[in-house]
Amino acid sequence: MQALPGVFDILPKDSQHLWRSSHIWERVEKIARECARDFGFQEIRTPIIEPTDLFLRSVGAYSDIVTKEMFTFSDRGQRSVTLRPEGTAPVMRAFVEHRLDASPKRKFFYIGPMFRYERPQEGRYRQHHQFGAEAIGTAAPEQDAETIALLYSFYKRLGLRDLEVSLNSIGGLETRSRYQESLVHFFKQHSHKLSPESQRRLDGNVLRILDSKNEGDQTLAKMAPVLPDALSPKERERIRRVQHCLSALSIPFSENPMLVRGLDYYNETVFEVIWKTGNSLGGGGRYDGLLKVLGGPDMPAVGFGTGLERVIQTMIAQGVDLGQEPVTTLRIVPLNDAALMMSMRVAHTLREKGISVEVEYNQQLKLTKAMQKADQLRSKFVAVIGDDELRSGTVTLKDMNNHQVHAKVDLLTFFFP
Ligand code: HAM
Repeated sequence: MQALPGVFDILPKDSQHLWRSSHIWERVEKIARECARDFGFQEIRTPIIEPTDLFLRSVGAYSDIVTKEMFTFSDRGQRSVTLRPEGTAPVMRAFVEHRLDASPKRKFFYIGPMFRYERPQEGRYRQHHQFGAEAIGTAAPEQDAETIALLYSFYKRLGLRDLEVSLNSIGGLETRSRYQESLVHFFKQHSHKLSPESQRRLDGNVLRILDSKNEGDQTLAKMAPVLPDALSPKERERIRRVQHCLSALSIPFSENPMLVRGLDYYNETVFEVIWKTGNSLGGGGRYDGLLKVLGGPDMPAVGFGTGLERVIQTMIAQGVDLGQEPVTTLRIVPLNDAALMMSMRVAHTLREKGISVEVEYNQQLKLTKAMQKADQLRSKFVAVIGDDELRSGTVTLKDMNNHQVHAKVDLLTFFFP
């Protein structure tokens, strides 16, 4: 049996696909948590499975995610359910369901798997993992900047560099519908030059033509009316303020009038972070209308999601320090049955004091083989317990780094002098 296409296992160490090694994931997730906490975000865990309607109403009926990429099926109760393709809508659903607006703590983060039925390729998977953050309740442009700052700090703490924040404002509802009309007008005049997919987008999601990957579409899109020209003075002032804050925080950014993002819930600020011209590492923006659409209070919100696969792959590509695989401090090798019991007791006592210990249970193994195994496992110390050690209540300890052997060692005193 093999895993399904586009999904993968994360092993303790995968030498062929280094990015699938669990110690790197642990490190990245730990730093994500630390960053989120430093910015005052609290963890939220929502189910992986949600009612399909949640994503139809939030991500958008015409979005690529909803039209082509969702893992949707009927459960045994004939409900249409979907494996979450993204994290924002589930967090908003939970916010409404649990009336979290009653609490002043309204900044959340999550780390977990998302599912999109995409054509599997480098950096694009059917199950990917996101670190995401959502700040609910403030409309201040400073909050937009702070959200971007959190994402940027995360990348920086991981050791990533040369990243570019690409920023745009897509305006409010009114601006967008006016802009969409002008786009439809423009593209209809040239519809024969559009790709079949973009021709379909003309009726449902014309903004998406702007970030089409098709060359013909791109040439046309370059000549299309641009969003910044459609913004009202207030909207323009708002995005300027976000830019001003980013500059004050020394976060490099560039304006990208073509950036529209692929989910329908956005308004005003949208952003993406890329390295070179590769896939986006992360992206997000403001989505002030979403809570109300989902039956909640009329509260503004802003957030981001970043794909951990792409983050780790970029760390590897940039030669960033990935940390070491964890190793056990002590491996105990008992030479007979009586020593085995003592080994278990000693291991237990040391573990309770926070020292990592493993015991060799294979009694058929010759001492030289047991030492070789400890070496392969990269244990820092090996303690051998035989009759002499049992009698003296001490062990023979080998330091695997410098190969020094210490006789008659009391382990507790050794580790806790
Ligand atoms: P998104 O841009 O669709 O936004 O996804 C966020 C990130 O998830 C992407 O930048 C990328 O790193 C990663 N990602 C997405 N799809 C895949 C895939 N198939 N394989 C690997 N990585 C992938 C959202 O999901 C929004 N919920 C972000 C957000 C939060 N906006 C506001 N709050």
